Amino acid sequence: MAIQRISTGIPGLDSLLEGGFKRNSINLIAGGAGCGKSIFAMQFLVDGLKKNEPAIYITFEEKKKKFYEDMAEFGWDLEKFEKTGKFVFLEYTPEQVKKILTEGGGIVESIIEKIKARRIVIDSITSFTLLYEDELEKKEADLTLFELIDKWNCTGIMTSQDESRDGHTISAAVEFEVDGIIMLYHAKKKGVRVRALEVLKMRGTKISPKTIAMDITPKGVVVYPKKVVEM
Ligand SMILES: Nc1ncnc2c1ncn2[C@@H]1O[C@H](COP(=O)(O)OP(=O)(O)O)[C@@H](O)[C@H]1O
Ligand SMILES: [Mg+2]
Repeated sequence: MAIQRISTGIPGLDSLLEGGFKRNSINLIAGGAGCGKSIFAMQFLVDGLKKNEPAIYITFEEKKKKFYEDMAEFGWDLEKFEKTGKFVFLEYTPEQVKKILTEGGGIVESIIEKIKARRIVIDSITSFTLLYEDELEKKEADLTLFELIDKWNCTGIMTSQDESRDGHTISAAVEFEVDGIIMLYHAKKKGVRVRALEVLKMRGTKISPKTIAMDITPKGVVVYPKKVVEM
């Protein structure tokens, strides 16, 4: 059976992924602070919302008012989407998410069912993982979260705070469990920061070995698939 693809909503990126994310896959967007993870994740949801695919954004990092303001800069009216009942923004503490896990879905599951969410973002998995000190506990929590998302039939993005260049700080359980990993870079070259993107992993997809130029424009994240960046 042919793999069903869902657009990432990022101009230039789908062509690198044989058409986009796999439907119902969970994808990690990893990178350092300010490299564009939250914008990327929201852009993926806005793409869905424009196609009438309801979406939910769960965050431990962003404050709603500020986030809505920042996203309005890209022409994304999140308040409007919220009013149509197709978009929910959840500002959650990691403890609240912990509760969802122990309740096997809890309030998040009822919201997802109510709005019939097809796309989900968790920003970030790093803050969530930091809740657990014990490695085994951490792994179990990650797996429970993955099982839930799987059950919800959504295509998902998780962001991961990662300052290292080769992705070694991503929790091992998450790295193996996700269907895809995309690294975002904002690296200094000769005194100037350059943005770039690299697809590290994408199940069922032939990926490019190249690190590609990326930019954050007035319309959001844009990728230039033909422009290779020397890192
Ligand atoms: N309207 C905008 N136009 C261009 N670049 C922007 C705009 N808003 C934010 N940025 C860039 O995006 C960065 C923040 O991106 P964000 O997705 O919040 O990063 P992360 O979530 O990876 O920490 C800012 O530091 C800035 O460089
Ligand atoms: Mg962020």
